[in-house]
Amino acid sequence: MSSSRPVTSAERELGQFIPLHYHWTMLQDEERVTAFRDAITHFVRPGMHVVELGGGTGILSSFAARCGASVECVERNPELADTARRLLALNGLDRQVQVIQADARDFVPSRPADAVICEMLHVGLVRERQTEVIQAFKDNHQRRFGDRLPRFFPEASILMVQLVQQDHDYHGYRAPVPVFQAPGASQPRTIGLSDPVVYSQFCYDESIPQSFDWTDTVSIVQSGELNAVRFLTMNLIGIVPEQGSAMTWRNQFLVTPLPSNSRVQAGEQRTLSLKYDAGAELSALSESLKLSVPHQVPQRRVA
Ligand SMILES: C[S@@+](CC[C@H](N)C(=O)[O-])C[C@H]1O[C@@H](n2cnc3c(N)ncnc32)[C@H](O)[C@@H]1O
Repeated sequence: MSSSRPVTSAERELGQFIPLHYHWTMLQDEERVTAFRDAITHFVRPGMHVVELGGGTGILSSFAARCGASVECVERNPELADTARRLLALNGLDRQVQVIQADARDFVPSRPADAVICEMLHVGLVRERQTEVIQAFKDNHQRRFGDRLPRFFPEASILMVQLVQQDHDYHGYRAPVPVFQAPGASQPRTIGLSDPVVYSQFCYDESIPQSFDWTDTVSIVQSGELNAVRFLTMNLIGIVPEQGSAMTWRNQFLVTPLPSNSRVQAGEQRTLSLKYDAGAELSALSESLKLSVPHQVPQRRVA
């Protein structure tokens, strides 16, 4: 099967055709690969049928195959599909994993899936089509095999924002531009002025939002120069309720500058709103940000 949908120029720009060398970097992301490996190993049993949507190098499919599952690994990029076939054969897993070059939105598995792996995750769920691809898969699967849905890896995502003071000065050169940050590393350029606040959370086997439209009041906990918003995304790859635990992976943080600076004091509040579509480009996310001082209701004098 080959992909029937053409790749649009917007999709190329949005990074949905990720260059090959970026996949070698993704192989080295220990938090990401470990969370998927542990979740897949915990839940997948011999004889299960597993589908991976957007298989890349095939590494996540390999974990399911090593658990004794048969796997259909769907990858749209022909160069990557060939790479996955080569690497899976190198690992002796080419009989358990069938690599199919196709658009995952059109794919219907050969038999009902017990589990689905889909890692098209970017901070804020921008750029990649995680929600759209999983929703299309759910629709296709239910039309063909009935209501029962497979387990999804990830099971859920939690999207958060934080008001921050960001140092945009690079050796005397001022550049207020969006920057990515490794979640585990210290970030001396960033001072958190509020705690992170959740603006969306959802499970992939329930209704999946295709857009985010949120407004809320955020409390300032640290005085400073408010000039940026940091986006943080936590993915629960597998949830083990009986142990009260989960295998988690945080996307890279994204710090996006605000159009203007304002001095804020601890104890104050700000109203923050955002509105963008899942899969949108980064600029859509920053352009949607609106910040204001909440309307104060005057307190009545007690006579
Ligand atoms: C972030 S990468 C993850 C690759 C791999 N699963 C891993 O974890 O290393 C997402 C992959 O999804 C593929 N992809 C994006 N949109 C797709 C679509 N509509 N159908 C099939 N594959 C797609 C990309 O080419 C890319 O290889």
